[in-house]
Formats: sequence, structure tokens, C-alpha cells
Amino acid sequence: MMKFFSLPSLFFLLAIQATVAQDVKINKRVDSLMKLMTLEEKVGQLNQYSGSVVTGPVNDAKTNMLNDIKQGKVGSMLNVRGVKDTREIQAVALQSRLKIPLLFSLDVIHGYKTIFPVPLAEAASWDLDAIKSAAHIAAKEAAASGIHWTFAPMVDVGRDPRWGRVMEGAGEDTYLGSKIATARVKGFQGEQLGGLDAIMACAKHFAAYGAAIAGRDYNAVDLSNQQLWETYLPPFKAAADAGVATFMNSFNTINGIPATGNSYLQRNILKGKWNFGGFVVSDWGSIAEMVPWGFAENQKDAALKAITAGSDMDMESLAYKNNLVKLVNEGAVPIALVDDALKRILYQKFLLGLFDDPYKFSNLAREKKVMADVKHPQIAREVAEKSIVLLKNNGQLLPLTRDTKNIVVIGPLAHSRKDMEGGWIVASDTTKVTSLYEGLVAKAGKNVKFTYVEGCGINGMSTAGFASAVAAAKSADLVIMALGESAEMTGEAKSRTDIHLPGVQEDLFVAVKATGKPVVSVLMAGRPMIFNKVADQSDAIVYAWLLGEQAGHAIANVLYGDYNPSGKLPSTFPRSVGQIPLSYQTYNTGRPVTDPKDIRYKSGYIDELNSPRYAFGYGLSYTTFNYTNLKSSATTITLTPESTVQLSFTLTNTGKYAGAEVVQLYIRDLVSSVVRPVKELKDFQKVMLKAGESTTITFTIDKDKLSYFNQDLHWVAEPGAFSLMIGSASDDIRLSATLNLTQ
Ligand code: NOJ
Repeated sequence: MMKFFSLPSLFFLLAIQATVAQDVKINKRVDSLMKLMTLEEKVGQLNQYSGSVVTGPVNDAKTNMLNDIKQGKVGSMLNVRGVKDTREIQAVALQSRLKIPLLFSLDVIHGYKTIFPVPLAEAASWDLDAIKSAAHIAAKEAAASGIHWTFAPMVDVGRDPRWGRVMEGAGEDTYLGSKIATARVKGFQGEQLGGLDAIMACAKHFAAYGAAIAGRDYNAVDLSNQQLWETYLPPFKAAADAGVATFMNSFNTINGIPATGNSYLQRNILKGKWNFGGFVVSDWGSIAEMVPWGFAENQKDAALKAITAGSDMDMESLAYKNNLVKLVNEGAVPIALVDDALKRILYQKFLLGLFDDPYKFSNLAREKKVMADVKHPQIAREVAEKSIVLLKNNGQLLPLTRDTKNIVVIGPLAHSRKDMEGGWIVASDTTKVTSLYEGLVAKAGKNVKFTYVEGCGINGMSTAGFASAVAAAKSADLVIMALGESAEMTGEAKSRTDIHLPGVQEDLFVAVKATGKPVVSVLMAGRPMIFNKVADQSDAIVYAWLLGEQAGHAIANVLYGDYNPSGKLPSTFPRSVGQIPLSYQTYNTGRPVTDPKDIRYKSGYIDELNSPRYAFGYGLSYTTFNYTNLKSSATTITLTPESTVQLSFTLTNTGKYAGAEVVQLYIRDLVSSVVRPVKELKDFQKVMLKAGESTTITFTIDKDKLSYFNQDLHWVAEPGAFSLMIGSASDDIRLSATLNLTQ
């Protein structure tokens, strides 16, 4: 019988057929190449060296790098970039017996040449298309500059703002983090790997690196399997489902087993249950680091444990290079393990097209053209605007008008370019970055006078600059204060025990505020900070993170109302360090606090509230939104996969400005065999509305949204009542309903 297909499904079928055919072809080429390889050459492909830029402790044991490459003892280089350098080094690899091309990799974390907001800032946009396009532009630029592979996205859930690396992730939430992981992987990898605008992405750090005890980097992780599965693994699963080409394991132990030597994670879950077909690279030196951890006796033992556990490529520890051949020859490591790792790596090299043209991504003319694309800074500015979160706006002080003629901009970040870029900067041109002061001057025009006073350093204790700051404030109509962290204070190995505004910045704020002038605080950092006096006394507060090269323009556009802020916090902002770790996904406990003034025998603190300073999902707009008219298509849902309930409501822009609102759906399973948090984000939409406009928003509830990992780690939905909450923030629920799940 003849079958008819619609045009889209025909294209889809043809695309699947083409992928399968390509897969068969590549596997054949991999197999025939492997037949030619000696054991030494096979192990060589599992070895990754760093170029002269180092992003970890230097390994002194490395001998003659170029000679090793020529002998086929290196499969990949990190920290080499640019057409000229990658061509030169690739040429050396092509002198090896089998001429296997190298993979060039780099930490392209939030832009290559065009610098976008730090990843945590981008997460505050809740705008998946914007996040995807930022990753795609980064990929385009890197791919034009000889890079095949980025060590991004970092998909670690981070609930401890002391940990410096929260800057590199998508915040505290598993659902939002999973969506962003997918967007970033798709952005980096484009339509298809092998395209000239696509590089391999890397989901890191597998797994639970974000749960390092006390927020101290590289520390141990002590985690229930429940938490591992429900909080930390889903963004990795989302990245795998999105087709991410590689994973990176992590420095931490999980319940005593280093992630790098962890078979449960890498073999059972990743390559087993999730059927991940790409390869796993270790983190920098993490194979050899299993020795100081006390998990391996020596480097040889570490190599044995890592390859057994499923670490395919050794970044910089030389443990594979120095020991794997011996281990195979002695019979301790089956050759099948080396072959499996090798096959995964070679597959990606073929897929990228490197065997057909090893210099494919290293083309001078293309490099020049792509780097000069004027759309890239424009998009970076749009993403930066979307990432800004308005925390406070008393008396509608913002947006500013040009009637405020005399403005003083005070603070150590007011005129900084370098700090706007944030960490992990590789190929940027800092002279192209716009500081806040420059952005304001460019925006407001000649009729507004701006004065800049530094006031104090970011981290120092000197108050010598306070007097001139106060004097300038006294003669101004309005003060804009730019306070926060330097780019150097966040990222890897940048954990802090105290996340208050550093140095004497808060004292400077108090001194300036005492003049009685209206103060707009612009706070910049790669993490949530604590700034209670600024929060209490500022007239308006904008959280501007570290927004990248367009920071100054983006913030000025927001302050002057050319962009109406729409960002929402992707992380909880605590009131005090003692509350950390703090997430909106808290538990009710058996003794919940109902009245914060009475915590006797209740689950609270005698010296602090339980609530955060600013909640997950919070962020204001210059306009206001009303949520009304909640309708549910049914009050019960059954366990069948097809059963769904439509929850709809009317969203109205009730203010004077056009603006975007992120509407958030939270769910609580009221009674369950494993206690659930009081709220879990399960869906969201970012909706743009003109002033006065209304629209109907619909969320679809299905069995999946009601499911969780039970005690046996099975993904189940349990019959009973669920609370459905729709709101503008996790602590600002506007509409709610109850849904019953029946058999
Ligand atoms: C160590 C970091 O943990 C990892 O994220 C990074 O990709 C590597 N160094 C390479 O720079």
C-alpha cells in the first residue's frame, strides 16, 4: 500500500535517513583507521595538552610538546587559538605517521571576540532564543579562528553563591538550567556539527561540582542520590538529549568517589542509561588529582581508575600518556576500553570534517570577515539589556529623563571596562568595551552633565576618596552608584566566605546617601551579593551583573527607558551568609514558621528571617502586570501520558510602558512518598505586551510535570493533590489552583 507523508514529515524522515547514512559511513572510516593504529598511537589520541596560555596548574613533567605531536602522542590541544597558530600546530600533527588531525579546544564561555554577559547574567534574561544566539555567535567566531570545541556550557546547578563558579552557570534551578543547557548546546553546535558556524559543546562538570561543601572550589560533595537525580543531573540529561558532543567530568568527589573515577556516573548513567555517544574529557589534571584525594596510589593507578570509569580523554595530567600503554600490556586495562574511548574521539574528528580538511576551521579571510560582523556587538547589547534585573524603583525614579541635568556617577565600577568583561576572556579587545560612565554620556546627550568620581577601590579599605564623592553628590541632582565585584572576584578558584559588597563600598554608599540626594545603585557581580544597606536605602537598584563589552550602553538604555527591564533572578539572594545554601526550593518542615515574629520551636533563626532578600524569579519592570481569570480545563488528570490539563489566565499590561513579563508556573506535590519542596518551577513564558494590552497564557500540565524521582530513583507521578501556582516570582504567586491526579 502506498503511504503519503506531509512535506515536513518527509523532510524529517529524509534528514534522519541522511544522519543514519552518515553515521554508518563515519563508523566505517573510524574502524579502518583504528586497524592501522599502534597501541601508542591509540593512547596518543586520548591525550590532551595545553598551549602556552594556562587555565590550571602548570604540569612541569611535559616534555617536548611539538615532538610528541609529531609522534602522534597528542589527540587534542586546548588553549591554542587563531588561524595562524592552529594552522602551524595542525601542520605538525600532519607530520605524524597516520596524519590524524588535532582537535583544538578552548573555554569559549560567553563569547569569543564579541563578549556577551557572563552566563549567570544571561540566565537572568529567561530568554532562550537570546541565550542560544549568544552561544551561536560565540561558536561562529571561534570556529572561524581555528577552534573546534568549547568547554561550555557549564550546566552545574549552583545554590551556594560563595562558590565563584556560579558565574558560569544558569543559577540555582534545575528546570530553568535544563532549558538553558539545551539552548546553549544548540547555539554552539548550530544546525549540525561539521558546519563552519558550529563547534562541539561540552556539558560540564559531570557531576554535582556545584554542590562543593561550603562553596569552596574543588571540594568534596556529599549528596543523597535523591538530590543528585532530581537537582543536579537533569541539566546534563538535557544537554545529552540536545546532542552535546562531549562531557567534562569534575574535580569533586561525590560521596567519596572522585567524579573522574566514577563508573556509576560515567558508565552506568551517562554512557549506559543515557546512551551518550560522544566522549568524556577529564577536567584539568583531574585524573592525576585522584592521587592527592587519596583515591589512587599513584598516577598509574589513577590512569587505571579513570579509563575504567569511562574518562576518555586526559586533560593535562599525562597520566594516560605515561601509563596506559603499560597498563594494557600488563593486562590491567582491556584494550577494548582504550578502543572505546578512541572510537568516540575519532568519530567527532570525522564528523567535524577534519580528516577531509584539517585546516577547515583555520581560514584567514573567514576569520577576518566573521570578527568584523557588526551584527555581533548589536546582539551582545540586546542580550545584555535582557539580562538586567530591576530590583527596586521607589516612586518610579527610573527611567531617568533628560530633565535631570547634573548627575554624578560614583563607585569603583563606574568607569571600568575590564571588569565589565567578566572572567574567561580569550580574544576580546578591551578597548572596545563601554564602561557605565561612557554609556551614560553617549546616551544622554550634551544637555546632561555627568561627573565621575571613583570614591573607593573595589576591594581596598581606604576611605580617602569618600570626601570628594560626597562633595560631588552634594552638587548633583542625582547620584548613580556603580558598586560590586571585579571580574577577578568570580569564576574558578574565586570562592568567597563573605559575599557582602567587597571592601568599603557599602560605607561609601552610606556616606553618599547621607547627602539626601536620590541614589540609583547599579550593582555588578558574577554572583548574588549581600548589600542590605544599599537595598534598604537606595531609591532604585539595578542588578547589572558583568554584562560584557556592551555593558555601558545596555545599562544606559535601561536607565533611560529605551529598554524596559525584563530580567528575573535565576538565583536566590540571601540576607546573610548564614542562610546559605538558600533556594526557593525549600521544604515546609514539620514546624514551619507562620509568623516571622514567633519562631519558638519553629524552623527558623533567632537572628535572621528565613526569607531571602530577593527571591528566585524576582525582577521588576517599568510597567505593571495583572494576572486574572484563571481557568483550568479540568480539576483532575489521569496517569496516562495523553492526559493533560490546560491552565490558562489573562495577563494584562496595566502600566504606561510596553514591557515583557516572565510568567512562572510552580507546582507542589502536596503528599508524596518522598517529601517534595514547597515549590518547583515547571514552566515559564516570556511575554511582550504593549501598554494596556492583554493576552491569554496557557500552560499545559501533563504527567511529566507532576513526576519526580522516588526512593528507588524511578521517575513517577503519584496520585493525589497538587498545588499549581502561577506568579511573577517564586515569592509572588498571583493565581493558584488544585489538581488531582488519579489512577
Ligand atoms: C578547569 C575548569 O574547571 C574547566 O571548566 C575548564 O574548562 C578547564 N580548566 C580548561 O581550562
